[in-house]
Amino acid sequence: MRIDIVTCLPRLLDSPFGDSILKRAQQKDLVSVCVNDLRQYSTDKHQRLDDYAYGGGAGMVMLMEPILNCFRTLQSEREYDEIIYMSPDGEQFSQSMANELSLKKNLLILCGHYKGVDERIREHFITREISIGDYVLSGGELAAAVVSDAIIRLLPGVLSDETSALTDSYQDDLVAPPVYTRPAEFEGMKVPDVLLSGNEAKIEEWRFEQSVERTKKRRPGLIS
Ligand code: ADE
Repeated sequence: MRIDIVTCLPRLLDSPFGDSILKRAQQKDLVSVCVNDLRQYSTDKHQRLDDYAYGGGAGMVMLMEPILNCFRTLQSEREYDEIIYMSPDGEQFSQSMANELSLKKNLLILCGHYKGVDERIREHFITREISIGDYVLSGGELAAAVVSDAIIRLLPGVLSDETSALTDSYQDDLVAPPVYTRPAEFEGMKVPDVLLSGNEAKIEEWRFEQSVERTKKRRPGLIS
């Protein structure tokens, strides 16, 4: 899979993709993440990426031209399955959307800034708009990193235990059960006996019950 991220603040993405699981996934060639600096696609002598909004009002609007120059360059090299715009008014991101996007070959993600992009970009070039939640970030970069992380960890070979992504919270519309590690007792706080029993069937049953209980208590909306 290849993910191209288009941004006016490329350095914001150095850390999320330069460490841990996402770094290793790239080193193992399981995914290629390319961060494209919009400024390099500006033809303006001051390399401006934004301008005042027609009709007035506070806040700048991202210019069409650098975005289209960047999109067209990238699209001349490969076809994209989705051209995504990160925006707080987009479709709410979810595990099922991550699952679906993890099956694609090439994704292009545009990060918004200031008051957003010229609406004509959204109307004519964007195929999908994604929000990571009902709050407003200063830009789409962190949201793009969240979406990319959720997708990349699902790619075969990225997680060392192949089954662990399948047992995550939300994969079956249930939150994950509690987990414990050594010691079995710490300052009087004990690990549930069933987990020490060695009885796999009983452990599975307990985990499922815990998941259902937790989901009912914490996220009742997930259980229909
Ligand atoms: N850009 C700013 N806020 C955002 C959000 N909540 N989701 C996606 N992109 C954003």
